[in-house]
Amino acid sequence: MEAAKETCCQNGLAKEMFEQLEHFIVSVNFDPCSPRRKGDLISILHKAQHIFGYLPKELQIWIAKRLNIQHSEVSGVVSFYNYFTTTPKGKYNVAVCLGTACFVQGADKVLAEFERQLGIKGGEVTEDMKFSIDVVRCIGACGLAPVLTVNEKVYGKVAHTDVAKILEEYKD
Ligand code: FES
Repeated sequence: MEAAKETCCQNGLAKEMFEQLEHFIVSVNFDPCSPRRKGDLISILHKAQHIFGYLPKELQIWIAKRLNIQHSEVSGVVSFYNYFTTTPKGKYNVAVCLGTACFVQGADKVLAEFERQLGIKGGEVTEDMKFSIDVVRCIGACGLAPVLTVNEKVYGKVAHTDVAKILEEYKD
């Protein structure tokens, strides 16, 4: 466990963050034999992502060792839920919905315009860590298609010609 922690720390994941996560794990009192096992693992991963911003492989390995479970179980949960991410996010995360309703209303053009203006692809982050782009599936607001979010703020009926105006809001 210490070795994994060392690797993560070397990769810039701070010691205090591990301490916060450790504190949470202790409070959850994870028991691999409990029927609550999966729910508790999900809560721990939520907390870890909240603390670190994302769930890189080294952190997943650390969590698996800490909980005495296989890394494959942790990575299985991380890859199953859209909410979890293994790549860092920018200060402003643009999440473009490419679900069917949004796609047929031109969400792919909106995505392409964000990619062009920010110079990154979906799943990437700008060099200054200011913006990242995510491609998501239906977020349950199909009536507003095409829909995207920037952090918590929802934008509906977006056209590719609106992209510059939206980015302007986050030029600080
Ligand atoms: S398909 Fe985009 S919100 Fe439902």
